Amino acid sequence: TDLKPIVAIDGPAGSGKSTVARAVARKLGLFYIDTGAMYRALALKARQEAVDPNDAPAVIALARHTRIDLSYDPREGTLRVDLDGRDVSQDIRRPEITEHVSVIAKIKEVREIMVGLQRSLAEGRRAILEGRDIGTVVFPDAYKKFFLDAACEERVRRRYLEMKEKNIPVEQQGVQNDIETRDRIDSTRACAPLRRTPDAVYIDTTRMTIDEVVAAVIAEINR
Ligand code: CDP
Ligand code: CDP
Repeated sequence: TDLKPIVAIDGPAGSGKSTVARAVARKLGLFYIDTGAMYRALALKARQEAVDPNDAPAVIALARHTRIDLSYDPREGTLRVDLDGRDVSQDIRRPEITEHVSVIAKIKEVREIMVGLQRSLAEGRRAILEGRDIGTVVFPDAYKKFFLDAACEERVRRRYLEMKEKNIPVEQQGVQNDIETRDRIDSTRACAPLRRTPDAVYIDTTRMTIDEVVAAVIAEINR
């Protein structure tokens, strides 16, 4: 096909971005980039180094001395996240990391570093990227942009089930608080806020299965 290089997926937590982007990547042979994993890796490092997420200058200094690598295996469809050469793919999903990631992701200088990394990872590739600012900032000229959404209760339900399946101890109320807090921080920050824009295909996934969303995204890409 004459598929152009970049597909952008944005949306709030639990809207299905990672699951859908991964499946689309496999089906269309695209390189998959989970940009949230990069912010999570830095949040993990801040915690390890006892850097206060609210201390922006300290977080920026830390970011400048941190190596974050994403390695996507297209055959397995798996993504490994390395922090300073160590595999942290599991650790970055822990609730105490999730809790602080949005505070770190507000910082403009941190975002500049991450966006640079994301662009160089995608360079010369047909790639699908998912996050909060892909269509607005990272690749404003993306071939296709999507905004995935779902009712808040449904996103909480999904994330809660996911954590239970992974045996990560959480309470429904805790997941709800986390999602509401991150939604608010991510969409009200000054730098690259999460925003639904008219050039993105909007998909309300509240009552859709993953397969239905994947099919809708692929149909739109092939249109
Ligand atoms: O998977 P989940 O939706 O819980 O979050 P994520 O995609 O792993 O992203 C974690 C956090 O990183 C988000 O809540 C944002 O604060 C931040 N993020 C961002 O600011 N910009 C991106 N492009 C991706 C993530
Ligand atoms: O990346 P994001 O935070 O947007 O969402 P995700 O991690 O892809 O999806 C969160 C959970 O919801 C996963 O366990 C998915 O399997 C599930 N999900 C679902 O049940 N129905 C959908 N239409 C999309 C995702």
